[in-house]
Amino acid sequence: MDTKRIAILFSGNGSNLEALIKFLHQKYFIPRKNSNDQLQNDEGGFLIGGISHSFERIEEKSARFVEPTHTHLQSPNISEPFKVEVVLALSNKRDAFGLTRAKNLGVATKVIESASKSREDFDAEVVATLQSLQLDLCILAGFMRILTPIFTQKIRALNIHPSLLPLFKGAHGITESYTSSMCLGGVSVHYVSEELDSGEIIAQGVIPKIANESLESYEARIHRLEHRLYPLAVLEALNKESK
Ligand code: GRF
Repeated sequence: MDTKRIAILFSGNGSNLEALIKFLHQKYFIPRKNSNDQLQNDEGGFLIGGISHSFERIEEKSARFVEPTHTHLQSPNISEPFKVEVVLALSNKRDAFGLTRAKNLGVATKVIESASKSREDFDAEVVATLQSLQLDLCILAGFMRILTPIFTQKIRALNIHPSLLPLFKGAHGITESYTSSMCLGGVSVHYVSEELDSGEIIAQGVIPKIANESLESYEARIHRLEHRLYPLAVLEALNKESK
């Protein structure tokens, strides 16, 4: 059975890191072709688009039981089961709370400090570490760095941004979408490219604005949506990458 190896890069709190580890790490999945059921309003009151497969989480013993070739012949819509392994949680800050979260969840951690290094030197060091891990995909989750081509040309990576891209790029996505005249806010998962918050979009989630809602409450709903959307988008991308 295939094991998909991912590393998660972060700089601070790490709530997305934790949601990703809890949902994906050492878990077994089987992709099933979806009839757009992800587009239904979720129990959390949001809408998710861009997810074309649903992934059923299965027990290890059932994953081992599925006969790939046989299954393929029976139904072209079912592919092989796979396991996800978070092989590293990497921070550029020594005091990032995410390090504690990752350790508590049994994931290996590493710090490569960015302070007092040039962007190029830092990126080269991170790339060397990631390349030694033989990853299927790198996941950025609150990794507060502008990346140089040294990183973007060598590492296939995803990022999550707390707005409906291409709107409200940059560090103030939540506040800008909150204060905008739009009636909806949202979250986007996209491939990392050389231009900030601009790579191909994989999936997006939407929440309606609520009249007189505080910024704190809006922000909390955005984060809940992120924690639901990101693991699904990672599975979607892993499935695409392996085609
Ligand atoms: C999230 O809002 C994410 O969209 C943005 O940075 C924040 C990270 O939060 N890129 P956390 O560290 O995952 O709690």
